[in-house]
Amino acid sequence: MPEREVKVFDDLTALSRAAAEVVFELANRAAAERGLFSMVLAGGGTPRKLYEILASDPFAVKMPWKDVHLFWGDERFVPPESPESNYGMVNRAMLEQVPIPAENVHPVRTTQFNTASEAAADYGTEVEKFYSANDNDSESKRWNFPRLDLVLLGVGADGHTASLFPGGDELAETRKLAVAVRAPENYETTDRVSFSLPLINNAANVLFLAGGREKRQVLDAVLNDPNRAREKYPAAMVDPADGRLIWFLDREAAG
Ligand code: 6PG
Repeated sequence: MPEREVKVFDDLTALSRAAAEVVFELANRAAAERGLFSMVLAGGGTPRKLYEILASDPFAVKMPWKDVHLFWGDERFVPPESPESNYGMVNRAMLEQVPIPAENVHPVRTTQFNTASEAAADYGTEVEKFYSANDNDSESKRWNFPRLDLVLLGVGADGHTASLFPGGDELAETRKLAVAVRAPENYETTDRVSFSLPLINNAANVLFLAGGREKRQVLDAVLNDPNRAREKYPAAMVDPADGRLIWFLDREAAG
């Protein structure tokens, strides 16, 4: 049975500090073993503190940035300068402060295409090309999906993760690496691009970060009744077949 862990922290700062240590340990191991660490970033508000910590001492200096390659698990179909851009949030919180080579940063190209579908197809090709060129680990090609080293995810109160929302047709995707999504109307920027479930579930490590009381109910379902939750909540459908699944919660979210 692959590794499953749930850890509860006093607050978001303690959670984010612990998450930075996990990132640091995985990055250094992957860099030492393969000279490459692929890390998929989450959007929204929860991970911002983690990105700020990775951009501060000691991580800004000690992370193996030259071997780190960054991807986005989902992106709103807006320009990078939009306040709703996940790339823009990460850029302000971390990228502007760390010595990561520009060619190691792989954002969704949201301004070169007219539709989220075109951007999703392009992003899937980008990930595939990156892996074909850089990852000769035969294990990573299991089920024909690249094996990402670490996928960071958040979870919405409705159980969405990345930009995979309950009831979305894209939950049934079995081939594509990235999909175009129309988020529910009550969400910022309904046009989105998201990694697909099979790509996420082929990762070596998945780390969920969740904070706040509003997540308590969905987390109770996902963590304590996963089989039923899996029928409804995309966050419960994340179950890396051959990878480590870790949940970091603050006390507010854990209940
Ligand atoms: C996004 C995120 C999304 C986020 C959840 C939780 O683009 O909004 O990728 O999946 O992780 O909505 O958001 P918070 O961390 O802000 O609660």
